Amino acid sequence: MLKRIKQSVDYVNSKTLSQPRIGLILGSGLGNFCRSIQVECELPYESIPHFPQSGIEGHQGALVFGTHRGIPLVVMQGRVHFYEGYSMEDITYPIRVLKHLGIEALLVTNAAGGMNPAFRVGDLMLITDHINMMPNPLIGPNHEALGPRFPDMSKAYDPGLLASCKGIARELAVEVQQGIYVAVSGPTYETPAEYHFFRVIGGDAVGMSTVPEVIIARHMNLRCFAMSVITDLGIPGQLEPITHQMVQEAAAKAEPRMTDLLLQLIERNFRHSA
Ligand code: HPA
Repeated sequence: MLKRIKQSVDYVNSKTLSQPRIGLILGSGLGNFCRSIQVECELPYESIPHFPQSGIEGHQGALVFGTHRGIPLVVMQGRVHFYEGYSMEDITYPIRVLKHLGIEALLVTNAAGGMNPAFRVGDLMLITDHINMMPNPLIGPNHEALGPRFPDMSKAYDPGLLASCKGIARELAVEVQQGIYVAVSGPTYETPAEYHFFRVIGGDAVGMSTVPEVIIARHMNLRCFAMSVITDLGIPGQLEPITHQMVQEAAAKAEPRMTDLLLQLIERNFRHSA
């Protein structure tokens, strides 16, 4: 694993001098963030040794290096999902590489179904915690050089970044919800009984990504921040058949608000320290 990571890192470093401090993962229909930053270099996933590739519509695959207000960052434009048939190790491999490129924090976005009855389609939800219903990506031999066998998850989502984002939302008058994200494998959306179950066990939203990446990031002690766009509702009385297209459209509509929050979060939390 370490050898493969080094090969990926060496390749990236042969293509760009960028030394990113922050990694971002953009979810379904949320790929336009890159229009708001100064892009320096774009590497398609297929060009990077050992990177998995996505074939899903709305998930282009490229590592985009750039800056925002001089702060260097790297964006994963598109991600691969467990439901595509990749192993957990494959889907989280890019996070290992980003860590070894030097990032300090991982910011993640996704599309999710809302179960909290206060939620509406188009809402943004700051993820305060998660419930993992997918296989754990750390199952298998532990790589001690990367992180501990039994990582703590008591503060998986960085309290400082969460508080900062809430303050920013207030200042910008962007309405945000907060809540617990339940991670499922998909690819089916939930039955009414499943949405109900996820609500009863404490979930506010459900989706098919983010948690494997956050677990791997926490294993390596990266600060994590994540935000969902609520693209459909799994609420009794408000359930409607869902399509991938509906999810993408709802996410695209919310994207400008999400981008504003992320840019401010970056500016305010990563401006000074080295
Ligand atoms: N369930 C699971 N994943 C999702 C959903 C959903 O309702 N919406 C967007 N991604």
